[in-house]
Amino acid sequence: GLVLGLEGTAWNLSAALFGDDLVALHSSPYVPPKGGIHPREAAQHHASVMKEVVSRVLTEPERIKAVAFSQGPGLGPSLRTVATAARALSIALGVPLVGVNHCVAHVEIGRWATGFRDPIVLYASGANTQVLGYLNGRYRIFGETLDIGLGNALDKFARSHDLPHPGGPIIEKLAQKGSYIELPYTVKGMDLAFSGLVSAAQESSAALEDVCFSLQETAFAMCVEVTERALAHAGKDEVLLVGGVGANRRLQEMLQVMCEERGAAFAVPERTFLGDNGAMIAYTGKVMLEHGVTLPLEKSQIRPGFRSDEVEVTWREDEPG
Ligand code: ATP
Ligand code: FE2
Repeated sequence: GLVLGLEGTAWNLSAALFGDDLVALHSSPYVPPKGGIHPREAAQHHASVMKEVVSRVLTEPERIKAVAFSQGPGLGPSLRTVATAARALSIALGVPLVGVNHCVAHVEIGRWATGFRDPIVLYASGANTQVLGYLNGRYRIFGETLDIGLGNALDKFARSHDLPHPGGPIIEKLAQKGSYIELPYTVKGMDLAFSGLVSAAQESSAALEDVCFSLQETAFAMCVEVTERALAHAGKDEVLLVGGVGANRRLQEMLQVMCEERGAAFAVPERTFLGDNGAMIAYTGKVMLEHGVTLPLEKSQIRPGFRSDEVEVTWREDEPG
């Protein structure tokens, strides 16, 4: 059987079909005309492209066994638009709903794409920055950002220099010609904070390339430090990088070096599965369905603050973690 997955927590409305492998995937990203992502406009976008995106993957409706959707975390209006569509599809197709945690889905598609079994995961996206690992039936959060996500931090800095959204890839390019200046490094226990770093970068009078380089070096070193400590603490030997910021070559390189020094393996999934995508929801939904996890319609309300450690990971219960 197949599972239809719908993702739309933030900027990307994306649908996919997953069977034994990925069968179909279609996405329609929302590109803000100016500035950052506006929640209501993103939801409007999702609603306006829903029919097109869903029909592209709805090729064999009779083989669909469940409709999975990202229940949270994410922007309220976007989540509501996607949940409404998912409920309607589940009723029309006469199949159950599966409510998927967006962060857990990033991790699961990353494991699927890389073949890693039990990694420490650095999940670095726009709104989220967390270091996770499987322990006793849940994805525990070893450390996370106390203020904004790493991607949003980069985007915010870019915006202050009138660079287009998303800023992450542009900063990566500019950083290639930069050299190091000192910026504030903030790791508190196992947690991270980026807003002081962004403010200092914005106020710096150094050349833009130098600020981009140093913003990356500082923010990424903070993430690598917490990942390394989680790796040592949990006694695992794999590091998986997921989330949109995972596309950054310098971040990949820094994690690779840390892993080599520790005798751990490092991997990052191919780009399609890094940022928000429907495949991760369809795949995680399929694994959950196979373990009997479905969501009654009357309990299918969105969960904007849904945390990964709230999910009981029953599909890995044979592993102690
Ligand atoms: P989530 O809901 O999980 O927080 P998201 O909606 O922020 O996800 P993602 O696709 O996971 O979406 O990540 C988008 C972020 O990734 C943006 O902030 C963007 O700037 C950043 N990004 C993309 N490519 C790069 C890159 N090469 N270097 C740094 N950051 C990047
Ligand atoms: Fe995401």
